[in-house]
Amino acid sequence: MNFMEAKGWTSVARPPLHRLGARVSLSFQQRLALRGTIPAGLDRKEAEVYQRLDPERLPQHIAIIMDGNGRWARRRHLPRVAGHRAGVASVRSTVETAARIGIPSLTLYAFSEENWKKRPKGEVDFLMGLLCRYLKAEVPTLNKNNIRLEYIGRQHELPASVQEKMGWARDATRQNTGMVLTLALNYSARTELVDAFRAMVDAAASNGGLQHLKIDEDGISQHLYTRHLPDPDLVIRTSGEMRLSNFLLWQLAYAEIFVTPTLWPEFRGVHLLEGIAEYQKRERRYGGLGAP
Ligand code: FPP
Repeated sequence: MNFMEAKGWTSVARPPLHRLGARVSLSFQQRLALRGTIPAGLDRKEAEVYQRLDPERLPQHIAIIMDGNGRWARRRHLPRVAGHRAGVASVRSTVETAARIGIPSLTLYAFSEENWKKRPKGEVDFLMGLLCRYLKAEVPTLNKNNIRLEYIGRQHELPASVQEKMGWARDATRQNTGMVLTLALNYSARTELVDAFRAMVDAAASNGGLQHLKIDEDGISQHLYTRHLPDPDLVIRTSGEMRLSNFLLWQLAYAEIFVTPTLWPEFRGVHLLEGIAEYQKRERRYGGLGAP
């Protein structure tokens, strides 16, 4: 008898919840049935945490600030880039677990505009090479897990060879209908807002003149890099830092924040599930008073 049978759990390869509709409403019996099932592919630790989750209240979009690669390397007397290299296994584990439990959208802050401009060239070149190798190696797994790849950030400022590889990976996963994995590369939230406002002005100017410029929240959201995504419900930051670091400043207005001391190279799917468990304990009030 394996540990799942010992616990009376069953494992199912079920369609992600989001394919049943964005805000699924399940009957009491369906919820009870789902609570007893564990998505296929979770390991023992993940299954233990998943068992505590309410599958009907999973975040629709999780954003992650991956931080702590340098500290992880320094503690081991390794060069900083060793931390970035080790961080790829964390990306893989997190992406696969998110897809397995049916999270519709996952966004990873891989590389900020500030990283690009302020880090030594050697580290930047290493990160670019790592990204290209990741994309090449990972496309078959993304396809196997029905994951579609997208990007946010000023792609046109990246080296041509990197842009080419990014375009290839996006095209190779375009047909997938499951989780949307968005990589933030050369991303800055302030730059995103500048680009959105410029695009709105340009659209109005070429569409009858600036007197037709209409500015409202929906219009701004529709001009952000993230127009293909709902706003994140949950933002996770690793390595204990309490900052947003110019990440999705508009979109995170009402997100729940989960900061874990775990350094990114040590982060795995089980930590993602722990973050979701914490999220499900929060009461989201959106400025209202909440339950009496
Ligand atoms: C922050 O750690 C991390 C980065 C700037 C790069 C993130 C890259 C990866 C996780 C690996 C590659 C990713 C993909 C998608 C292939 P830091 O260097 O700022 O750490 P520190 O604060 O401890 O110095």
